[in-house]
Amino acid sequence: MKFYLPTKIFFEDNYIQSIDEIKRLGDKFLIITGKSSKINKSLDELLKILNKLNKKYEIFDETLENPPKEMINNIIERYGKNWDVIVGLGGGSPMDTAKAVAVLCKNNISVEELYDSNKYNSAAKILCIPTTSGTGSEVTQYSVLTINNVKKGFKHDVIFPDVAILEPKYTLTLNKELTVSTALDALSHAIEAFLSLRANSFSDLYALKAIEIISLNLNNLVKDLGNYELRKKIMLASLYAGISIGITGTTIAHSLGYSLTTEKGIKHGLATAVFLPFEIEHSNSSKANKIKEILGDPLEFLKSLNILIKFSVNEREIEAWSQRVLNSSHVKVTPGNYDFSKIKETYKWLLEKSGLYGGNK
Ligand SMILES: [Fe+2]
Repeated sequence: MKFYLPTKIFFEDNYIQSIDEIKRLGDKFLIITGKSSKINKSLDELLKILNKLNKKYEIFDETLENPPKEMINNIIERYGKNWDVIVGLGGGSPMDTAKAVAVLCKNNISVEELYDSNKYNSAAKILCIPTTSGTGSEVTQYSVLTINNVKKGFKHDVIFPDVAILEPKYTLTLNKELTVSTALDALSHAIEAFLSLRANSFSDLYALKAIEIISLNLNNLVKDLGNYELRKKIMLASLYAGISIGITGTTIAHSLGYSLTTEKGIKHGLATAVFLPFEIEHSNSSKANKIKEILGDPLEFLKSLNILIKFSVNEREIEAWSQRVLNSSHVKVTPGNYDFSKIKETYKWLLEKSGLYGGNK
């Protein structure tokens, strides 16, 4: 069994305990973020600390969802490589962008070469401050980018963040749609990690706890978005789920969902979670029963959150998506022997049988 997690994690609602860590990281900080960090005040708070510590910083606040390689190249062109610390402040996209930029700062390689782990063995320091509860990127060695319109993750121990600061209060301003889609990303991580053929007793421990917390609290949070205690619970679940996929990686639901996100604009967490009932049912394992014991019927759980995704799709697209899934690394770690026709069947199940597909937009 292997469990390696070099990230220092602070789960709290003020920076006081982590300020020394920020001080130690370096002197020059490049902050990668989006617009929401101004709304939830996380950017203000971070800048206050950096100013107090007399650190030099620049801010890139135009991070796009599903970070495209062109944006990563633009950041390097605009801000150069002379940074001690790259900060990922926001959801998965700023954090995954920060990880890519951190490697490029220390290596003369292209974005495509990030996918060849032999080409590099260093990165600038990485500080992650998530402001959504779902991605888990703050504690993983993964970064998912979009290369030529295909969503694809790279993996390397050097992109484990050095420090992760989780402050549940930053998630209080998330709307219902984002709250649900990001929490379902966390649920997908936990369920996929639990079912994965790479699961071990460390990952099971974190994955089961995450499933339990989400099943007990997500519906209540949706009805009471300003409830701090519930926000805190879901953020903890997201952290646990992130730790579990750091051990196992994700499985087929993630691979199936990627095309729905890049080609149809369906949010990552939703695009992934809609395949969970199928994946659980076809895992043929006692683990499936364990999940149902905690969550109840997985399809009913999604329906209780009013999940209904809409997009137009044709046969040719399903064939292309299925081929992409078949070529992905997720297939061999997923129980259930997925071949091309079973992968196609999974898409058909979503469209025709699940009740989660709402037809053309
Ligand atoms: Fe995910």
